[in-house]
Amino acid sequence: MTAFWTSLRLVVAVAVLSATRLEAKFTHSAYLDAAREKYFLQWRYDAETITFRVEVATLGYVGFGISPNGDMTGSDIVTGFVTDQGDTFFFDRYATARAMPTIDSSQDWTLESSGENGTHTFLQFSRKLVLCDHTDRTIEAGTTRVIWAYHGEDPPHDTELMYHGETRGARSLMLLSGPQNAELPEQVQTMEFLNDAYAVPYKKVTNYLYRGFKVPDLGGKKHVIAFEPVVQAGNEAVIHHMFLYACLEDLDPNLYDGVQYLRESRDIPADWRSCKVTIIVWDVGGVGMHYPEKVGLSVGAPGDPTFLLMETHYNNAQRKKGMKDSSGIRLLYTSELREYDLGLMQLGMEVGHTQIIPPGSQSFVSVGNCYPDCLEKAMEAESIDKINVIGVHFHAHLAARKMRVRHVRNGVELPWLGNDENFDFNFQQTIRLQKEREVLKGDYLIVECTYDTTDREEITHGGPNTQDEMYLGHILHYPKMKLRRCKSNPHRVAYLEALGATEVMFRAGKDDFVPIQPPQMAGKSMKKLLHSVSWNEELRQKFQAVQRTGKTSVICMKKDNSWEEFHQQTLTMREPPPVILHPFEETDACKTQGTGASRLKMRQGSKKSINGVHGHEANAENKSGIKKGSRRKTRKNHRKLSLSPWRHHRRARKISW
Ligand SMILES: *[C@@H]1O[C@H](CO)[C@@H](O)[C@H](O)[C@H]1NC(C)=O
Ligand SMILES: *[C@@H]1O[C@H](CO)[C@@H](O)[C@H](O)[C@H]1NC(C)=O
Repeated sequence: MTAFWTSLRLVVAVAVLSATRLEAKFTHSAYLDAAREKYFLQWRYDAETITFRVEVATLGYVGFGISPNGDMTGSDIVTGFVTDQGDTFFFDRYATARAMPTIDSSQDWTLESSGENGTHTFLQFSRKLVLCDHTDRTIEAGTTRVIWAYHGEDPPHDTELMYHGETRGARSLMLLSGPQNAELPEQVQTMEFLNDAYAVPYKKVTNYLYRGFKVPDLGGKKHVIAFEPVVQAGNEAVIHHMFLYACLEDLDPNLYDGVQYLRESRDIPADWRSCKVTIIVWDVGGVGMHYPEKVGLSVGAPGDPTFLLMETHYNNAQRKKGMKDSSGIRLLYTSELREYDLGLMQLGMEVGHTQIIPPGSQSFVSVGNCYPDCLEKAMEAESIDKINVIGVHFHAHLAARKMRVRHVRNGVELPWLGNDENFDFNFQQTIRLQKEREVLKGDYLIVECTYDTTDREEITHGGPNTQDEMYLGHILHYPKMKLRRCKSNPHRVAYLEALGATEVMFRAGKDDFVPIQPPQMAGKSMKKLLHSVSWNEELRQKFQAVQRTGKTSVICMKKDNSWEEFHQQTLTMREPPPVILHPFEETDACKTQGTGASRLKMRQGSKKSINGVHGHEANAENKSGIKKGSRRKTRKNHRKLSLSPWRHHRRARKISW
């Protein structure tokens, strides 16, 4: 092992990068521990690389990883520590179980700087976003589960780690969201929406508080340009998220100012149900958000919200008694109006019984369309030909797994406006797009949400409770349009047909569609029919087909549309939107490297040396990192040649631990 130590010291020696690279500012930051005091992460990224810096309140070892689901198994992990002599030991690892993660044969994370200051350990490291290596997870837009751990002491040996115990955790982050830390102009005023010494419940861990606020008189139109969380000192660990909602219907702000209810309260005013336009989203550990320079959220002008509803999620894991909380959200606004008003439009499905997710579905996709004619009309009303989308926010409940906003122009699907492969109910943050996207007149949008109901025995319907489902996609855009909701639901007739109805008719008396053929279905309500079905794969598939090819009801509503108009829209039957002739396919960065022919040649040429590298001993010998570039290349070639020696190699590793 002496050779091992020596070569490792070299890692430290070569990890000297240009000063500019080290000093470049971080654009994102978050505390990973719930108490927001021990484990601070900063990061920045460009088209190819992501750079992290961790500051952790320990002089022992530190671990950081990218996880598929928040668990350790399958995670791409780095561990590092700084010895009392000032040497740093830093490894790229991979966890195949909840056990000490194995050291990757290819060290793909680069240590850029490290140190200790008497109380904290600092590590700065980077890697490519895409590594095409099954022990290094690709970092994608959307939600990423990161895991963290640390220990109070350095390991006794360079590669061996002691169990970290309880100083570990997982949290979701949008690693590739647009920049969050921006400069503020000088003329900024603030208004705060705060809870008022609320006695945090202790009988239950999870508590959602809703509190209404009258928007103060601002003396005319202003632009909100940023927001920040205001977390009461000492309560950091229990504040899980805070959202501010505007309402689709006009509520009397004087009636509800300072009024508050817990989510399960029966007294929640019915008209609060329309308060679903998320305008501010803050999640545990996050910082606020700054809107792009050209854009501000209009407040104080006619038609702007006069009432806001704040949702605070208290996660009182310790069930602590006697906690009072006055946390909330601070809006930063200015009288120096920006060029554009920020618009918020809701896509997806109307929340209600025409969202049906069969029980026992592994990945059932609900589909809501924003039809081209709806967007077109809305743009015509504003005399514009396009909108610019700056962000996307998804909202769904517990069964949701993936979310996507698709964008179609002339039958060709463009890259997704938003895509979240790891939707996390406990982390619903606005995705600031890295680059603004134009949606033109004639384009249309499709929101898809994938659900997993394998653990459910009953149908899951759309509804307001957490056990019901919901799926909404909000689009932050400018210029602002009066259009508030651009959605569709499968039409009731499409469901009745999937259930076997051959003839359906509208019964004015019931204000609903009912089957008249076949005779055994005649006159039965959908509710009754659904109640008596026994679900099998074939029926699930029929219901799945309804989502994409069935008739729909289209919701295309401005804020001031009446309930009657809404009702009429839900009854009107429409064909599904035009077929997508060329669906978008995400390019697999790992498949487009070099041409097949030249790769083949290289493979053959390097075969011999590859076998050498992949022996366990030879590999350890070359840990120095100096040879890393060439070593990595050879290994990649090797993997493409044949998988079996690689597998063999991994097995060998596992046993050796
Ligand atoms: C070490 O750095 C941390 C984080 O920046 C800081 O909070 C702490 O005060 C520093 N400790 C000392 C002893 O300088
Ligand atoms: C491994 O390291 C040795 C000694 O540093 C060097 O001679 C050899 O070329 C290296 N092998 C590879 C494949 O990099």
